[in-house]
Amino acid sequence: MKRPDAGAPFPRHFFAREDERDDAEFYASPRFVTHIDDGAIAAVGALYDELGLAGRVLDLMGSWVSHFRERPQHLTVLGMNARELAANAQAAEWIVHDLNAEPVLPFASDSFDHATCCVSVDYLTRPVDVFVEVARVVRPGGIFVCTFSNRLFPTKAVRGWLHADSEAHQGIVAEYFQLSGAYRAVTTRRCTAAHAGGDPLFAVWAAVRTPA
Ligand SMILES: C[S@@+](CC[C@H](N)C(=O)[O-])C[C@H]1O[C@@H](n2cnc3c(N)ncnc32)[C@H](O)[C@@H]1O
Repeated sequence: MKRPDAGAPFPRHFFAREDERDDAEFYASPRFVTHIDDGAIAAVGALYDELGLAGRVLDLMGSWVSHFRERPQHLTVLGMNARELAANAQAAEWIVHDLNAEPVLPFASDSFDHATCCVSVDYLTRPVDVFVEVARVVRPGGIFVCTFSNRLFPTKAVRGWLHADSEAHQGIVAEYFQLSGAYRAVTTRRCTAAHAGGDPLFAVWAAVRTPA
């Protein structure tokens, strides 16, 4: 697997943010809210079911809810706020870890069957490094799925995301997968109907390639 420079194919300042303070400061206080509406949450759970995300699952950039319809056998949730993570009823274990400060994941290779990242990929400043790491800790054939909507914390999202529309967002995440060189074919999907009203939900996912 290659370890590309995360910024290389993106314009200068793509990963800059209005708020460049440590993420630990922004996420110091818990937010016991949902970041997407019930329809979008249902679409996340339905997709996880469809993709068969069970077994040992890693929920990246998580909080107090992980959106699985059925709790995986062993769910590990990684995020920034300990009180939110401790309140996650689906989590078997949780860990506070800043992926922008340290994209290397604190897990052994092949620790997980699958990984998820819900409404948070837009906050990653070194996404390709993180995607390479996810492919290391998820077994070959396991799925990594990113879901997102059109709501976000604008001061913490990377600039390139803020200047793109939903279609472009799907392309950006697909590019993260491709640049990591660690996944098979990438699938993108709009999971909520275009004229349904409510928060839209988009997904991009791929299976981890068997290392050469
Ligand atoms: C919009 S919330 C989404 C939370 C959850 N995934 C959900 O679906 O409700 C963004 C999450 O990203 C996490 N996050 C933000 N920056 C992070 C970073 N640098 N490293 C790890 N997690 C981060 C925060 O802890 C927060 O829970």
